[in-house]
Amino acid sequence: MQILGFPDSLAPARRLADALGGDCGAIDVHRFPDGESLVTLPPQLADTVVLFRGLEDANARLVELLLACDGARANGARRIILVAPYLCYMRQDKAFHPGQAVSQRIIGEHLSRWVDDLITVDPHLHRIARLDQALPHCNALATSAAPLLGEFLRGRGGDGVLVGPDEESRQWVEQVALASGLPFVIATKERLGDREVRIALPAYPYRGADAILVDDVISSGKTMAETARQLRAAGAGAVSALCTHALFAPGALEAMAAAGIGEVWSSSAIAHGSNRIDLTPVLAEAVLQASRV
Ligand code: R5P
Repeated sequence: MQILGFPDSLAPARRLADALGGDCGAIDVHRFPDGESLVTLPPQLADTVVLFRGLEDANARLVELLLACDGARANGARRIILVAPYLCYMRQDKAFHPGQAVSQRIIGEHLSRWVDDLITVDPHLHRIARLDQALPHCNALATSAAPLLGEFLRGRGGDGVLVGPDEESRQWVEQVALASGLPFVIATKERLGDREVRIALPAYPYRGADAILVDDVISSGKTMAETARQLRAAGAGAVSALCTHALFAPGALEAMAAAGIGEVWSSSAIAHGSNRIDLTPVLAEAVLQASRV
């Protein structure tokens, strides 16, 4: 098995190769002045190759992935296992207004034809139950960072309450609670725009309690910031934030800090200075599981 990393994923690809005892090669990407990409792979590839590429910052990365998948097959690969810890375009799973393209279905339809197996972490599935419904043409495997997030909290010690900002977060918060031994509550969220949400907290004795906000994705940071504001208003002590996918759009960390969020921790699903939980072991286990099919 040969593991290949793109320039932006070479470090985690090497960690994965070490964990699997395989070779790690590099895919070179050159961006032309007009924004187009030139993708170069090792000229001779093994039967099974693992392409490691997170799909945050998705638009250019998707095109480069398409070029790499086709190039890998031309260079001898017969089976492509894609490890994409962050899977893009999963949040739009229906047309919220007439005329909208449903990106989850469209991207999933195409992506699942490029590869034989796709491994991802905590994909944002809301109105569908299983990843293979979004990725109908490949062997799709979703693994979760939540147990490791919970173990991280348990290792830190201390108490507090986990707070999921919306009903969609319940699936992850419950697992983090199980692994950490901490209690949890789930708030309700109304999205008013890309960077505007309204949060309502359920009843809980917040006064003096430390709170740890838990979600799959932090993008603009407004969901976390607004939840933190409500918690501070309810008298909570220290507020921190924990997530799988540290997308952090420009201004997100500043907005969270301004709302009183102290520490911010994330998994390595997206490389960021807040990464505290290395997902290499769960990714390696998922690759082994996929390759046994
Ligand atoms: C959506 O339901 C997700 O779970 C996150 O809550 C959301 O994507 C966070 O977005 P933002 O950081 O922009 O509020």
